[in-house]
Amino acid sequence: MKYLKILLFFITLNTFAQQGGMWIPSLLEGMNEDEMTSLGSKLTAKDIYDINNSSLKDAIGHFNGGCTSEVISPKGLILTNHHCGFSQIQSHSSLENDYLKNGFWAMSYEEELPNNGLFVEFIVSIHDVSKNVLADINENMTEKEKQSTIDKNSNGILKNWTKEAWQDVKVKSFYKGNQYFLFVTERFEDIRLVGAPPTSIGKFGSDTDNWVFPRHTGDFSLFRIYADANNRPAKYNINNKPYTPKHFLPISLDGVEEGDFTMVFGFPGRTNEYLPAVAIEHITKNYNPTNIAIREAALKVINEKMKADDDVRIKYASKQARIANAWKKWIGENLGIEKSNAVEKRRAFETTYTKALKEKGLEEKYGDILPEFNRLYKDFAPVDIKRRNFIEVFLTTNELMQMTFRTYQVVQAIKDNPSVFERAKESLIGRFKGIHKNYNVDVDRGIFNSVMPLYANHVDASIYDKTAFTNLDSALKLLEGSPKEVLKNINNDAAYKYAKPLIDEFYNVIDKEFQQKNETITALQTKYMTALMEALPNARYFPDANSTLRVTYGQVRGYAPRDAVYYNHVSYLDGVIEKYIPGDYEFDVPQKLRDLYAAKDYGQYADTNGKVPVCFLGTNHTTGGNSGSPAIDAHGNLVGLNFDRVWEGTMSDMNYDPEICRNIMVDLRYVLFIIDKYAGVKHLIDEMELVHPKK
Ligand code: ARG
Ligand code: GLU
Repeated sequence: MKYLKILLFFITLNTFAQQGGMWIPSLLEGMNEDEMTSLGSKLTAKDIYDINNSSLKDAIGHFNGGCTSEVISPKGLILTNHHCGFSQIQSHSSLENDYLKNGFWAMSYEEELPNNGLFVEFIVSIHDVSKNVLADINENMTEKEKQSTIDKNSNGILKNWTKEAWQDVKVKSFYKGNQYFLFVTERFEDIRLVGAPPTSIGKFGSDTDNWVFPRHTGDFSLFRIYADANNRPAKYNINNKPYTPKHFLPISLDGVEEGDFTMVFGFPGRTNEYLPAVAIEHITKNYNPTNIAIREAALKVINEKMKADDDVRIKYASKQARIANAWKKWIGENLGIEKSNAVEKRRAFETTYTKALKEKGLEEKYGDILPEFNRLYKDFAPVDIKRRNFIEVFLTTNELMQMTFRTYQVVQAIKDNPSVFERAKESLIGRFKGIHKNYNVDVDRGIFNSVMPLYANHVDASIYDKTAFTNLDSALKLLEGSPKEVLKNINNDAAYKYAKPLIDEFYNVIDKEFQQKNETITALQTKYMTALMEALPNARYFPDANSTLRVTYGQVRGYAPRDAVYYNHVSYLDGVIEKYIPGDYEFDVPQKLRDLYAAKDYGQYADTNGKVPVCFLGTNHTTGGNSGSPAIDAHGNLVGLNFDRVWEGTMSDMNYDPEICRNIMVDLRYVLFIIDKYAGVKHLIDEMELVHPKK
């Protein structure tokens, strides 16, 4: 009996350790708390999220809506990824002050650089408002009626919620609209750049190493939150003070070993874990490949020109990184899905689910869902692909087409309502200026020539010689005069004339059809979620990521990507030196770092084996948006900075497989080593609280 108990314990322990999931921080008591404890955590659910006292969650900030950051000092110092602060670092950079290339370190508060538009948002509290949001919803309503009732209820709740003047509230949907939570938030808008390593450290390995392990990237940057005299959120003001946080994370100097507990606390953006097999098949076999091809065509042009010209390199740095990032992710996603037989496995799961429906007498109620998915996806696939290809060409890769697209939108707005002319014009001027700040017409023409044939039958690059859009002054001239004159100017422009029928088709045919079909599929997905939870009530359900605060936990662990190959859980500075290629744009290593390595001048940042750890792997289930998230040890200390996933595991957005899905974190000791030994900014280290939980 005792044996059996121990055996059972190990079996559960093992499945627990392996399962992934992104959990709501206010609901950890019970199952999650037990799982975390079984994995080695010493934290209680209240240590992580507490509505009445300060807790770990108070140190976690949503960084500009797309990444995560954490407070690491009593003076509002925050840590995030280099790639999360990349566009800010880029915007302060020029050929004279090339912070991308050389790094940036503020030596005093006065030298910290303000960033227009950048914000960090904290979660004050989380409340389940499902009952009120779903009040008056019934099965006889159409999807539109349901949604408008939900919106009405949510708005009512938001309006009556008691909050402080400087706080905001929002309601978000979970489990495909089966549950709703309200978030009280505080948004800080005076966020200044404090430090960033050179790209040769912060983006070491660039696209070749992106999404892969072994990895040697020091992907971090430092910012500081400033608040008003009352320590409350405020717009930029020279008189603002460094923010005093409710909580900041102490940093462990003891690192991690394989098997150690870690949790990643942050704002994952979007996952799709409950798709039917037919959807996974559509995405990986048809949808991804076409979008990969478009991005690949654009990247060929951009990469070549960036290598040849420093001005282009700086201007296109952010754009290139954005385009390359998803391009490579999708390739990995496809590989992972194929290699792990995810579609077949999902089909096998669907058989189990269908059997459960039968056994529970739910066939009548839910039996049509899977066949319906099969029918709908067949019908939806072509328009889904066509629409996304349009977006890839017109909004992601080619900027002349982007300018015509924005102009088209403004023309429509003015046609519908002439009184918006001035406002629409202003917003368009803003768009043009934004694009032209980082624009090179030769690069853009090259992109046009390579991506347009993948979308349209008729390609005419001669528009580049005739259009006004490719030069800021002439583009702005298009917008001078009365509304009538402006419309005439625009309609006469060669690029606009070329793009207009394509955009017409997008709005009048493609997007219309997409929205209609997508709405039906979304409604079915909601029903499927309900059905799954009823048919298989004992399975472990976590809500798909939706850019809200989540906890994911696991253990430090290596993995076997293929037969006879095993990746260790940790990489070292030795690997940086191994990869070093003098002068290479991806694998160059700064002289100073090579000197520190040669002298073994590691200070307190080496591991017990005398080496400086750079990155490590864990089984934490993360996604885009978790960039910059803290990896926290069993005691609540910061040990790592999440920034990526492994190539074979990027499919975890649809299919988390414990065998090969791993998140990649920078070891905090590497971050501190770079700040202290490489950059020599000791005063930042002095601000932090360094601890030794293992000694
Ligand atoms: N793959 C990581 C993420 O999804 C890092 C991206 C930045 N690095 C790069 N080489 N583009 O954001
Ligand atoms: N680098 C990603 C981001 O920007 C996180 C990596 C991932 O997708 O897991 O959010």
